[in-house]
Amino acid sequence: MVSGVLLDKVDEVPSWGVTFQKWGRTIYNSEDGTFIGRTCMQWFQLLVFYICFYVGLAVFFGVGLFLFLHQLSSLTPKYVVEDSLLGDTPGMGFAPKITDDGTDLLWVNGTCTEKNCSCTGKNDCCCYSGEEEYIKTLTDFMKPYKNAQQTADTFVACRNDRESSEEEVCKVPISDLGPCGIDPTFGYSTKSPCVALKLNKMISWLPHPYTDVDQVPANVTDFYNNVLKTKFELDPSMIYITCTGQNDADNEHMGPIMLHPKTIPKYYFPYRNTPGYLSPLVMVQFLNPQTGIVINVRCSAWAKNLKPDTSSSTFKATTSFRLLVSTEKSQYF
Ligand SMILES: *[C@@H]1O[C@H](CO)[C@@H](O)[C@H](O)[C@H]1NC(C)=O
Ligand SMILES: *[C@@H]1O[C@H](CO)[C@@H](O)[C@H](O)[C@H]1NC(C)=O
Ligand SMILES: *[C@@H]1O[C@H](CO)[C@@H](O)[C@H](O)[C@H]1NC(C)=O
Repeated sequence: MVSGVLLDKVDEVPSWGVTFQKWGRTIYNSEDGTFIGRTCMQWFQLLVFYICFYVGLAVFFGVGLFLFLHQLSSLTPKYVVEDSLLGDTPGMGFAPKITDDGTDLLWVNGTCTEKNCSCTGKNDCCCYSGEEEYIKTLTDFMKPYKNAQQTADTFVACRNDRESSEEEVCKVPISDLGPCGIDPTFGYSTKSPCVALKLNKMISWLPHPYTDVDQVPANVTDFYNNVLKTKFELDPSMIYITCTGQNDADNEHMGPIMLHPKTIPKYYFPYRNTPGYLSPLVMVQFLNPQTGIVINVRCSAWAKNLKPDTSSSTFKATTSFRLLVSTEKSQYF
């Protein structure tokens, strides 16, 4: 019985010949004159439609791309300085910054007494493990500034009467950085650490230095007269730099400092995204900071259009960090 049912079913299956005929008619139906369901005319219309559609799409895309690229310059962004979202005042940065730390603390191992040694970041001499990071970070930061890196024809020794052209960049002479440019440990092995300061690059931004001594805030004149102990004299081609403690106690603990160089010449600006451009640096060196205490330092840049604003959260033209000379770092975290 079971086999009978199966045989009935098998009989209902159409023969191979009929199946092929059906398929054949789907591909080419001679009665309707259609080929895969469409007549020649319908196929032609479909082809014309898709050609027009894709050509239209390509033209639309091409015009959009052309307009977009036309608006862009490869070197200068469309919106600069006041027009851009970044605003018209560059920020200030410092190095070495140990980013893994997540802090702005610069730590110098205060137990180092041996001053006559030259170590290169290895765990020898008077370099201890903690300082290595700072020395290495600053060494990496300084790499593009090495004299050997500033030899291309585009590097020019700028002066007030010799600015760089669009293709040129001004040299940043290492010799201007004083001991901070010579000592491979940047003073970290001799308890007189150097911190590099720079204004962040802002395309097309031009400083407007003070042109009259009356315009110069007391923050600047007091700093040059009393901290650097060099009588303040106005140079209208310079941006001025100050580094002070955040309060009176910090000022006391900070001890004597030096700036190498003392000002930033305006010929380094504007930054035009010229390949090889180096931001001008100022090294602040702490000659004899108090040991065993965290010193809060704020450094600022000053010009008519650089008004360090410490109240706002943006910290324009100003930066702050903490310096600690101590045998123990951990207790300050
Ligand atoms: C600081 O230097 C001393 C003297 O060698 C050393 O014993 C100590 O481990 C160093 N501290 C740190 C945190 O590396
Ligand atoms: C360092 O030591 C060497 C040899 O001991 C000596 O010739 C040199 O004058 C010393 N340098 C300083 C800065 O003390
Ligand atoms: C400038 O000096 C004033 C008065 O001493 C002080 O309140 C202000 O914080 C200083 N500004 C900066 C950026 O150091």
